[in-house]
Amino acid sequence: MTSRHRRVRIREATPADLPWMAPLFEALMNRSRAWFGLPTFSREKSRRAARNYIGGQLRRFRGPRGFALVAELGARPVGFVTVELHRSPADDQVRAYTSGEVQELHVQRGFRRQGVGTALMAAVERRVRSCRGTLVSLYTHPRLRAAHRFYGQQGYQVVSVKFDKRLP
Ligand SMILES: CC(C)(COP(=O)(O)OP(=O)(O)OC[C@H]1O[C@@H](n2cnc3c(N)ncnc32)[C@H](O)[C@@H]1OP(=O)(O)O)[C@@H](O)C(=O)NCCC(=O)NCCS
Repeated sequence: MTSRHRRVRIREATPADLPWMAPLFEALMNRSRAWFGLPTFSREKSRRAARNYIGGQLRRFRGPRGFALVAELGARPVGFVTVELHRSPADDQVRAYTSGEVQELHVQRGFRRQGVGTALMAAVERRVRSCRGTLVSLYTHPRLRAAHRFYGQQGYQVVSVKFDKRLP
């Protein structure tokens, strides 16, 4: 771990974090709606959708179902990650295993490229390992090139590519 990652403090997210977490997600939500050709939300609807979605994740991803972590620089929260835990049963191909699926990962603009995302992913991996997990995975959008470089730098590999066609 480099010195810049050590400055980052990681803690559990709480419902009190929702007011700053939701706008971080909202920015990407609105960009990705445009990529999928979905109509733009009004300001009010967009704010509500982001709050509902992140609020739902904070309620769901607790205990055995997952977790949500916040990164702080000084006393300031600058990023978060939410993770769902899966327990996959054994079949004739693989033994039963536990994995963590990163659902959301966001770092505030102005605090990127300072090791915050790296510190969050390192904490995710520690937590998944502590649940006897052996895999961390995530889905991302092809346009999020910076995120692809980030995950590659963290040692993640592309293992599948999904095709979609929207029917009229
Ligand atoms: C992707 C994201 C979480 C990375 O967080 P971060 O705190 O900036 O990441 P780090 O500072 O730990 O970056 C570690 C390394 O990843 C790579 N990296 C990160 N951002 C990069 C970028 N924009 N372009 C190229 N490489 C990048 C670099 O190798 C970087 O090391 P370096 O700064 O020494 O060159 C952040 O850019 C973000 O919140 N993006 C918007 C939301 C998003 O796309 N989330 C992921 C959805 S799947």
